[in-house]
Amino acid sequence: MKHSRKLIFICTGSDCKKAGAKKLYKELKEITAQAPHRGSCKFIKTKCMDMCKTAPNVIVGDHFCKKTTAEKVLMEIKKS
Ligand code: FES
Repeated sequence: MKHSRKLIFICTGSDCKKAGAKKLYKELKEITAQAPHRGSCKFIKTKCMDMCKTAPNVIVGDHFCKKTTAEKVLMEIKKS
């Protein structure tokens, strides 16, 4: 059986924080705690990714999500 736990990197640098990265992190944690995403994601907070102009930044697998929202991240989780 294939285990597909996705790694999601959330930038928590100062610019991304100002752009709502903390709220985004909380939203994603809440959503992924429920079915059908339960246990399928691992969140990792990172320092600045040097892409501050496009804050908040999130990396889902090998896809870089710029100026992202919880909905965009969830779509990316489903795709990968
Ligand atoms: S603070 Fe997030 S990329 Fe710089």
